[in-house]
Amino acid sequence: IEGESGTGKELVARALHTHSARTEFPFVTVNSGNLPHDLLESNLFGHVKGAFTGALSAKKGLFELADTGSIFFDEIGNMPFETQAKLLGVIQERQFMRLGGVETIKVDVRIIAATNVDLKRMVDEGRFREDLYYRLHVITVHLPALRERKEDIPLLVQHFLSKYGGENDRPDLEITPEALDVLVAYDWPGNVRELENVIERAVVLSSGPRIGNELIPDHVRATEQFQMPRIVVPPDGISLKEVIGASERQLIESALHEAGGVQKRAAELLRIKPTTLNEMIKRYGIQSGQRRRVSKRKGQSPAPAKSDSKSTETAQAPLGVDTTRDN
Ligand SMILES: Nc1ncnc2c1ncn2[C@@H]1O[C@H](COP(=O)(O)OP(=O)(O)OP(=O)(O)O)[C@@H](O)[C@H]1O
Ligand SMILES: [Mg+2]
Repeated sequence: IEGESGTGKELVARALHTHSARTEFPFVTVNSGNLPHDLLESNLFGHVKGAFTGALSAKKGLFELADTGSIFFDEIGNMPFETQAKLLGVIQERQFMRLGGVETIKVDVRIIAATNVDLKRMVDEGRFREDLYYRLHVITVHLPALRERKEDIPLLVQHFLSKYGGENDRPDLEITPEALDVLVAYDWPGNVRELENVIERAVVLSSGPRIGNELIPDHVRATEQFQMPRIVVPPDGISLKEVIGASERQLIESALHEAGGVQKRAAELLRIKPTTLNEMIKRYGIQSGQRRRVSKRKGQSPAPAKSDSKSTETAQAPLGVDTTRDN
């Protein structure tokens, strides 16, 4: 199971087990990377009494505990190189020995492994055994990042709303369409886990019946304030110069508005020199300092930049001009 952090790899591993004929039997998770290899191996395969100093009694390993069930190797990419060889041996032979033991132990386990790194690349770099890599890649489940399946966001939001609404005695909480738009627009580097945390936070902080934008953290809302609109070239073409000119003009007007008409500040907002801004203001005939004129122009269409409604997935104000604000 491969996917970025927070995409649900563990959830999928458990689902594979739960929906299998092995569901009545154990599901054992192994954190592949947080132990030195000898300790990890004694955990996996167990040991006999006296196998090493401190081995006062025999101990079953995780493979034995998982017998007839499933064993889940989380972050398999972190497994020490030495242990990778031993694991491959077990997969191929379906048997192993406890540390210090002579008796072979046979087990019947389904092996599920997860990684958030590109294992193939680790193989190419000599950090992951190629033979184990191919042995594990019998069936690959790729979990796409949340930003690649935005259509899941509303479903997940509903799911977490009822989950955390239930836990917090707020069973009928709803989310406003505006807040949902913001959540869909964000790109979720932390994937489903990050979304889950945002919803839990909003539920806990909410006091009314609906979750609005004000309960969405600032960094998530930041995308709401600026997103490049997707402009699609119409079949009969479009003038690049005109589109860029119209965008420039809108950005300048918006910056002036934001800066209360102060050109120096507006230039800072646009990361350009005040002299450059001043030249542009003259070129476009923008009347700076007159906030009323600026706000009057709002709501006008973004000039020749026709955007195809089908491909404009996130309908946003053109080039970051906040059309909701008025004064
Ligand atoms: N499709 C889903 N439906 C409901 N909850 C989900 C879904 N996908 C993920 N989650 C939730 O998101 C959180 C993260 O999922 P999980 O721990 O499985 O991710 P992971 O891929 O193992 O992440 P990591 O690589 O960081 O360990 C969990 O609380 C999980 O329940
Ligand atoms: Mg995980």
